[in-house]
Amino acid sequence: MSDLKKDAGVSRRDFIRMGSAVGIGTALAGMAISACAKEVATSPGAAKVGPMDTVRLGIIGVGNQGSQHYRNFLKIDGVEIVAVCDLIEDKVKRMQDWTAEAGKKKPVGYFKGPNDYKRMCAEQELDLVFTATPWSLHAPIMVEAMKTGSHAATEVPAAVTIEECWELVETSEKYNKHCVMMENVCYMEPEMMIFNMTRQGVFGELLHGEGAYNHDLRNYKLGSAYEGNWRIYHSINRDGNLYPTHGLGPIAQCMNISRGDRFDYLVSMSTTAHGLKEFATKNLGPDHEFAKANYKCGDINTSMIKTVKGKTIYLVHDTNLPRPYSRINLVQGTKGITQGFSDLTHENLIHIEGLTEPHSWEPLMTHADKYKHPLITQMEEMAKGANHGGADFIEDYRLIHCLRNGLATDMDVYEAADWTVVSGLTEISVANRSQAVDFPDFTRGQWKTREPLGILKI
Ligand SMILES: NC(=O)c1ccc[n+]([C@@H]2O[C@H](COP(=O)([O-])OP(=O)(O)OC[C@H]3O[C@@H](n4cnc5c(N)ncnc54)[C@H](O)[C@@H]3O)[C@@H](O)[C@H]2O)c1
Repeated sequence: MSDLKKDAGVSRRDFIRMGSAVGIGTALAGMAISACAKEVATSPGAAKVGPMDTVRLGIIGVGNQGSQHYRNFLKIDGVEIVAVCDLIEDKVKRMQDWTAEAGKKKPVGYFKGPNDYKRMCAEQELDLVFTATPWSLHAPIMVEAMKTGSHAATEVPAAVTIEECWELVETSEKYNKHCVMMENVCYMEPEMMIFNMTRQGVFGELLHGEGAYNHDLRNYKLGSAYEGNWRIYHSINRDGNLYPTHGLGPIAQCMNISRGDRFDYLVSMSTTAHGLKEFATKNLGPDHEFAKANYKCGDINTSMIKTVKGKTIYLVHDTNLPRPYSRINLVQGTKGITQGFSDLTHENLIHIEGLTEPHSWEPLMTHADKYKHPLITQMEEMAKGANHGGADFIEDYRLIHCLRNGLATDMDVYEAADWTVVSGLTEISVANRSQAVDFPDFTRGQWKTREPLGILKI
């Protein structure tokens, strides 16, 4: 098995946990399975770090998404890209060329194999290591970065296994380093406006949210979009919600998860798997390894999450079937509801009692004059042309802004762990007839007193 095929690995400790979870489930039928009984250690909370003038940056993984971030960082004041690392030498050279074209000093290139990022972390004086590699490398790279003296940021998800989520939290706390998961959907205009409206009480007391990653990825997973086809091996080896954070992150922020409330438990179920095998057979031929592969991941995974304070979240992962993109994006409270995902044929909708005609919807953006998020107003011109409608630029900018000003990052290690761990927990629930699985409390009780996220500005 190549390293890339190992990308979808489940760790030995997770197998042990799943094994014992089954045992507990059988013995205590009807009670929630505790996914992670973790010994309590002193928790100083999220990293507190003073301001820095220049952020010396090392970037690892400059494929589709990493190169987009790279382009953003070239445009942000106070960033010096010191080093760049990828498996593929040409990709590293391309980034070095872009840097020279931007009139900046060429970063040192690292491309001597899968562990060369460790050499980069050891050799270079870095303030921040940013990874946009395949999922299985996110946690190992961030841990290496924090241990060698840098803050760490990653593309989504922050980790693959439950054990890795704990490792991120413990390493961040031990070394007082920021460990940030870059959930760009939290910086998109409708999501930011909904967050702003939530903070202003427009929806009343929040009760329910619905989110999803509904994206036909068959062509990407089975084509050449991902270097070495790394993403397909997760669908072959795992069954659960493999990519929960785009749909969940913005809802979790509105609901103050890990900042006043926390995820309590979830239940999850998957359909059988057909989409990838059918698509591979039709498009690659019946003898292709991806047509012959057995796919473990059900085509549609559906989960429900309950929070300690009684809120519910419905979450879907649906990436192997023909369908238009959607994140559902629903938030509902005692005074109203919003839902929808903007594309060519749909728009975000809202219904607020007293404002909207009874029993009808109106476009969310009707209220933009009053509720547009100030960060969007400040940054939309600057972010024009950047990936994902400018959201990627805004998130990169905010990360650098927080580091340079000695501020807490918008999303910290607890959010990275809370939103990411959903994958591992859904895998346990799916494997156990949808039994309830408890969330670990990564904050170790601090969720009760942690400050809710405020309205961000630059
Ligand atoms: N937030 C978003 O909207 C969004 C969109 C696309 C991708 N992503 C995320 O970005 C990440 C990368 O996805 P992608 O589409 O860019 O994939 P990709 O395959 O295009 O890029 C991954 C890169 O990592 C490199 N790499 C692999 N192993 C490495 C190693 N050991 N050391 C150094 N480099 C290594 C590969 O050569 C490749 O260039 C994933 O986590 C994905 O989920 C997020």
